[in-house]
Amino acid sequence: MEELATEIRRLLGERNAILLSHNYQTLDIQAIADLRGDSLELARAASRTDAEVIVFAGVHFMAETASILNPEKTVLLPDANAGCPMADMITAQHVRAEREKHPRAAFVAYVNTTAEVKAESDICCTSANAVKVVETVDQGEVYMLPDKNLALYTARYTNKRVHYWDGFCIVHHSVTSKHVKEVKAWYPGALFIAHPECRPEVLDLADHVFSTSGMARFVAESDHDEFIIGTERGLMDRMAQDHPQKRFFLASPKLYCVNMKKITVEKIRDSLINLEPVVKVPEEVARRARAPIERMLEVV
Ligand code: 13P
Ligand code: SF4
Repeated sequence: MEELATEIRRLLGERNAILLSHNYQTLDIQAIADLRGDSLELARAASRTDAEVIVFAGVHFMAETASILNPEKTVLLPDANAGCPMADMITAQHVRAEREKHPRAAFVAYVNTTAEVKAESDICCTSANAVKVVETVDQGEVYMLPDKNLALYTARYTNKRVHYWDGFCIVHHSVTSKHVKEVKAWYPGALFIAHPECRPEVLDLADHVFSTSGMARFVAESDHDEFIIGTERGLMDRMAQDHPQKRFFLASPKLYCVNMKKITVEKIRDSLINLEPVVKVPEEVARRARAPIERMLEVV
């Protein structure tokens, strides 16, 4: 494994490439990445890099965002089938139809969407900035898509009217209040921190709600030493490694994203050797999708 890591770092240098890893990737990938972060941090890093090649250890919409922001660069997704089922729950056609029904609403697309859907939207958001983005738009009403749980969470912190699409993350939505209550009963002293993709009934039980990197920062700064984690287990494994003196418990065994886990170090090595699979958004779509992403990056 050590040898593979060395080979990947050498290939990254030879290709003038950068390796961006989402917080849900396995620890071996996070350890060799140039940056590990949440969707917002990774989009920002992709917008600033001067590397010629971006290798994305994450899922398809993240690589697409990097391609939209860097049309001249090669963006690699080491497994072309690493998708996000939530992103596939809404199409550009759906957005156009909803726009006709809600002509006064600003359309706020979660970054977990396809490039075609972003191209039909006014501004993007991530779990780290959804409330700020909604507060920034001029309109008094917003339409958030595709995640109803993120929309309902945002609605708690804004006076604007929030419409939403009925999509959800199959991983976070599988957690119920019953799971959380059970784990809380086992570890009554633990703080429960959750991702806004969880159901409202689950967020009601949370001490704090954060994006993935928000959780990592909170745990690093907290005096508390026991945490129940309401997000994908890759982040929990990372926090357990970073803080061996603290204890972490997963809110539900279902918090495992098979798509994120399709990326492996072997596939990263192969993608750097072969310079594929490439994710390239056609320029006509990229041009329209760039504006809402850039608008979001200006907000925070
Ligand atoms: P973050 O932006 O909080 O890292 O979330 C991304 C994601 O896919 C959550 O399921
Ligand atoms: Fe998509 Fe959910 Fe996996 Fe995140 S955890 S990539 S939202 S399926």
